[in-house]
Amino acid sequence: MTTIIKNGTIVTADRTYKADVKVENGVIAEIGQNLSGGEELDATGCYVMPGGIDPHVHLEMPFMGTYSSDDFESGTRAALAGGTTMVVDFCLPNPEQSLLEALQRWDNKSTRANCDYSFHMAITWWGEQVFNEMEDITKRGINTFKHFMAYKGALMVNDDEMFASFRRCAELGALPLVHAENGDVVADLQAKLLAEGNDGPEGHAYSRPPQVEGEATNRAIMIADMAGVPVYIVHTSCEDAHEAIRRARMAGKRVYGEPLIQHLTLDESEYFDKDWDHAARRVMSPPFRNKQHQDSLWNGLSSGSLSVVATDHCAFTTEQKRNGVGDFTQIPNGTGGLEDRMPMLWTHGVNTGRLTMNEFVAVTSTNIAKILNVYPRKGAILEGADADIVVWDPYKEKTISADSQQSAIDYNVFEGKHVKGLPRFTLTRGKVAVHDGEVRTEEGHGQFVERPPNNPVNTALSTWKELTAPRKIERTGIPASGV
Ligand code: URP
Ligand code: ZN
Ligand code: ZN
Ligand code: ZN
Repeated sequence: MTTIIKNGTIVTADRTYKADVKVENGVIAEIGQNLSGGEELDATGCYVMPGGIDPHVHLEMPFMGTYSSDDFESGTRAALAGGTTMVVDFCLPNPEQSLLEALQRWDNKSTRANCDYSFHMAITWWGEQVFNEMEDITKRGINTFKHFMAYKGALMVNDDEMFASFRRCAELGALPLVHAENGDVVADLQAKLLAEGNDGPEGHAYSRPPQVEGEATNRAIMIADMAGVPVYIVHTSCEDAHEAIRRARMAGKRVYGEPLIQHLTLDESEYFDKDWDHAARRVMSPPFRNKQHQDSLWNGLSSGSLSVVATDHCAFTTEQKRNGVGDFTQIPNGTGGLEDRMPMLWTHGVNTGRLTMNEFVAVTSTNIAKILNVYPRKGAILEGADADIVVWDPYKEKTISADSQQSAIDYNVFEGKHVKGLPRFTLTRGKVAVHDGEVRTEEGHGQFVERPPNNPVNTALSTWKELTAPRKIERTGIPASGV
């Protein structure tokens, strides 16, 4: 099966040039001029880029007494429709549950995926079994472990558990991920707001001010530094967290920050909407922030202090959101975004001049492929790489609407937003899943992508930590003991 992408301009994280791309058996077989011999896809006027990688999604996630409503089928269909060709979901063991047993459940759910996928393993409790199984998990091709500093009484881990797990990650050459919000402070603020009768969705935002995120981000970074391991901060939403990341990077620490497309383009005024449903549909953690925080995130992307744009796609229907009528702490936390991440980032990033096209590719695909240790199989337009490709039409426009989306839920947080820049074709390992805007996905086509440990950054950091580790001083004169 041969496909030729003709007459396009290839855009990667570091180059822009005109060439055709030949795809054979799911991989990029050749890049060159005037290629022929197969089904042709006309890319005239388009940019041929690595398909997007969304490293932060929750498909069919068991959470807050329900399940998120997009599963691996609808979620990956939405991804492909928007130019994303790989997603990474979070495997969440129950308290005391074996990590391997939890992974089996995620393996079963993911068989329906339309595009390639991988998992992060969450550390939701701590003990000898978890310590031991972390090694088995890395051998299964998972090199990232997620830690929730929030969701007290549910997913949250304490500092001692986090430090132990981070040290284990260092030993295994794995990367810890952190949801950085101070869960103790959030729980207290929630109780106080409810006691004062502040029970609407805006209470969610009031209970999670930027300080809870800034403090936790800084704490996670310092704990990672003491454990001698790089750290990746998910859904960085505010200047307070970004500042901690920036400062750490300037001090030579290996820290990555991941803003979401929602935080870049939607603000806190959504929670003050008079319509309860409107506000509740936008409840997620961390909450949307004000314009100053948004500017900080955009600046982080263009300066390189923030590395990746994700979605944290975790879609709940209006019905599910209504679990929290009368008590905002019961509104399931999460919003959608998989289909809209690339068009929204292009429209508000590239079309405004805040990002170059190459920076767009870096933050939607290449950077995370390197961080997750799957580059250049993913995140690249290179001979031998998987043919996960988006042919991007910078003139194609639409108005985002729930009526035409792939996601299973009944609304879209970007409803009414106009985007310019959309996929003409999306290829997942060579299979054309979007053809001139028509979605032709194939359930079960997606495969699990193994991600080996010992990323070059882990190795470099352990070398440095080894060299600078505390050492006993061998003394020549030791005085007699005083006793
Ligand atoms: O509100 C959110 N972000 N829901 C998904 C779970 C998480 O914290 O990432
Ligand atoms: Zn989170
Ligand atoms: Zn998440
Ligand atoms: Zn297939």
